[in-house]
Amino acid sequence: MKFVSSLLLLSLGLASQAFSAPATEAAPAPMPEPPAILTRNEAVHHARVVDLLSRMTLEEKIGQLVQYSSPDHATGPAAKADLEREITAGRAGSMLNVVGAKQVRAMQDLAVKRTRLGIPLVFGYDVIHGFRTIFPINLGQAASWDLQAIERSERIAAVEASAAGINWTFAPMLDIARDPRWGRISEGSGEDPFLASAIGVARVQGFQGDDLSRNDTILACAKHFVAYGAAQGGRDYNTTDVSPATLRDVYFPPFKAAVDAGVSTFMAAFNDLNGVPCSSNPALFSQLLRGEWGFRGFVVSDWSSIKELVAHGVSTDLRDAALQSFNAGIDMDMESRAFMPNLAELVIEGSVPAQRVDQAVYTILMAKARLGLFDDPYRYCDEARENQSQLTKQNLEAARVLARNSCVLLQNERSALPLKKGVRIALIGPLANSTRDLIGSWQAQGREQDAISIKKALEKANTGEIVYAEGCEIQGADRSGFAAAIKAAKRSTVVVAVIGESWDMCGESSSRTSLDLPGVQLELLKELHATGRPVVAVVMAGRPLVLSEVRKYADAILYAWFPGTMGGPAIVDLLSGAFSPSGKLPVTFPRVVGQVPLYYNHKMTGRPQDDSKPTEKFRTNYLDCPNTPEFPFGFGLSYGRFEYSKTRLSSSVLKPQGTLKISVSVTNKGRIIADEVVQLYVRDLVGSVTRPVRELKGFSRISLKVGETREVSFTLRPEDLSFTRLDMSVAPEPGRFEVYVGGDSQAPKVGDFEYQEL
Ligand code: NOJ
Repeated sequence: MKFVSSLLLLSLGLASQAFSAPATEAAPAPMPEPPAILTRNEAVHHARVVDLLSRMTLEEKIGQLVQYSSPDHATGPAAKADLEREITAGRAGSMLNVVGAKQVRAMQDLAVKRTRLGIPLVFGYDVIHGFRTIFPINLGQAASWDLQAIERSERIAAVEASAAGINWTFAPMLDIARDPRWGRISEGSGEDPFLASAIGVARVQGFQGDDLSRNDTILACAKHFVAYGAAQGGRDYNTTDVSPATLRDVYFPPFKAAVDAGVSTFMAAFNDLNGVPCSSNPALFSQLLRGEWGFRGFVVSDWSSIKELVAHGVSTDLRDAALQSFNAGIDMDMESRAFMPNLAELVIEGSVPAQRVDQAVYTILMAKARLGLFDDPYRYCDEARENQSQLTKQNLEAARVLARNSCVLLQNERSALPLKKGVRIALIGPLANSTRDLIGSWQAQGREQDAISIKKALEKANTGEIVYAEGCEIQGADRSGFAAAIKAAKRSTVVVAVIGESWDMCGESSSRTSLDLPGVQLELLKELHATGRPVVAVVMAGRPLVLSEVRKYADAILYAWFPGTMGGPAIVDLLSGAFSPSGKLPVTFPRVVGQVPLYYNHKMTGRPQDDSKPTEKFRTNYLDCPNTPEFPFGFGLSYGRFEYSKTRLSSSVLKPQGTLKISVSVTNKGRIIADEVVQLYVRDLVGSVTRPVRELKGFSRISLKVGETREVSFTLRPEDLSFTRLDMSVAPEPGRFEVYVGGDSQAPKVGDFEYQEL
C-alpha cells in the first residue's frame, strides 16, 4: 500500500515534496483546524462550528457530506430519492439544481425547522456564463481578454443567482483544453495557462467579491481537478495520461491561482489521471491541494464520480469507492449516494479516521458560516429581490459589451466589413433568427425569449433593407431552402450568412470527431459566394471549427461563439461599424482536424519543420498539411490599424529579486476608435528539459482613439520564468531568453535578455 501511494506521488511530481507517508494511511490535517487567517469573523465562525460539531452524531456529520439534486433540473443520471425524508432525517448537507427564492426557502425549511440541529443547506447550481442574463459562453468570454468585463459578468451572475436562492456556483471551470473535439472546451478559457489563470482569478473575485457574508456573493468552485481537458481523443470523460511536468506547468496553474485568490471549493474531475481516477486521488487532494497549496475549503465530487470508481475498475463496490474517495480528500458526495450508507460503518471499523470526518464537516460548516447561513438561513430567499435583480438594464448592457468584446474578426477581404450604410442585406443562415442557440449550453435560468436574435437586432438597427432566408438547417441534408436564399442574395448588395453549430453540439457529453460546419451549410455558403455578392460569415460555435473552406467562400468571417442574451445587438454593433471587433483567439484554430492537438506553446522537437519547406523529408511534419494553424492563438483583426514601435527592454540582464521592464508604443493608424490586446511572449532558449517555443507572459487590453499612441509596459520577474525542471523543482534556469511583443502569438521578436543567478 505504501509503495502504491509513493508511486502516486511520483506520478504527480510530488515525490520530491516532504510527504513521508502515503495519504491513505496518514492522518489528514488535524481537526478542527482554525482558519489560516484568524480575523474576528473567522474566529467567531470557527468557535461556532467547533461547538456545533461537538454536538453532532456521526450520522448527522455524514449527512453534511451529502448532496442531492432536485429531479426537476437534473444535470446527470440520478436515481430517485425521497428528498423530504432524507433532508428531515439530517441526511443531506447540500442541494443542487433547486432554483428560485420560493423553492429554496421551502427546502431550507425542511433542514432548518425539521432536523434536530437545524443546520441549513447550501444550494449549488451551475452558474457558468450568467444566471438569467446570459453572457457569451466561457470560451467566447476568454476571447475578450477583458478581465474587468469578465469579473463584472460573474458579479452580475452572483447578484442574480443569490437573489434566487443560490449561494454556491460550480464555476469557474479552469480546465486547459488543447483539443477542440472535446465539447467542454466551450466552458473554459482555452489552451493557455497564463490567460486561463488570469481569467479564473477574475471569475472567483466576481462570484465571491471580498465579503462572502454579503447576501449577493456566492461560493465559487474551481473545477474540474484536474486535467479533464486532456481527455484522450477529445472524448468526454475519457482517460488522461499527462506527465508530471506538464501537469505542473500547464494544467495546474489556473487551479493554483484560484486557491491564491481564495476560491472556497473545488470539484474533483471525472477522469482518471495517470492511472488513478481524480475522485480517489490522495496525491491530488490531500497532498497537493491541501498540503502544498494550503487550500482550506471543501472538495465536492463530480456528479456520481465516486460511484464511477467501480466502473473505472479501482473500487470493488460502492463501499470501497466511498472509502477510497473520502480518504483521498473528497468531502462532499454529489449524487453518488456512496457516503451516507457506508461512511459510518467505515469509521466504526477504523478504515476511515473519525478525524477525517470532522475535518470534512468542519470545512463545509465553515463555508455555511461564512455565507451567513447560521445567522439567517433564508438570506438568499427574498422574492422581491429576486424579481428586481434579474435582467436589469445594466446587466443587459454588460452582456452586450462582453459579447461585443468576445467576437473575433478572422478575415476581412475587400473591406467587406463594416457594412456600408443603407445597403440591402441578404440575411441568410440557420442561426440568423435563432435565439436558443445564442444562449448556448449551461444556460442556467437564461431563456431564449429574453435573447435578441441577429435578425431582430439588424431590423432594429435600421442599417438598410433586409431580405431574410434561412437557407438550410444547422444539421441534415435538406437543400430545399437554397433557392430562396440565392434569390435573396441576388436581390441584395451584400450577404450576411449566420452559420455554425447548434448550442447542444458543445458542452458536456458533446464531443465531435469532425470540426467542420455541420450539415449543408458550407454548400450553401458556396452558392451564396457564386452569386458574386460579398459574403460576410458570422460563425457561432462552442469550439474552434475548421474554416479553411469557409475562408474561400466568405470575404469576412466574424467568429461569435455563442454570444448570450444580447448576442444579436452586440454582433450588429460590429457589423455596422459602430464598434470595432477586438476579440483575440484564446485557442489555436487548426487547418484540419488531423492536426489536433495543436497549440501555440508546443515544444521544438529535434527535427523542427522549416515552414518554407513544409513537406521536407525527415522533419516533424505531415505529408498533406503544413504544421501551422489556420489562425494562431491570440489572433484577431480590427477595423483599426495598429502600429507597434519603440519596443524597449530596460536591461539585457535579469537577476534574482530583479525585474525587467518591456515597453512598447502602440498607435492606432486606422479610421475608427478600436481596442487592441497587446501580448508579450517569452522563449527560454535552453533548459534542463525541453521548453515551449514561446509562452504568454503578459497582456494588456487598450483602447485607442484614431491617431492615438499609448505606451504599454510589462514587468517580468524571475518567477515568471519558472518551470518544472529536470529534478521536479519549480524555478527559472539561468540562460538566454527571447522576447516577442505584438497582437498575436506570432508576434515578432523584439529583443532578448539573459537571466543570471550569479
Ligand atoms: C457534471 C459536470 O461535469 C459538472 O461540471 C457540473 O458542475 C455537475 N455535473 C453538476 O451539474
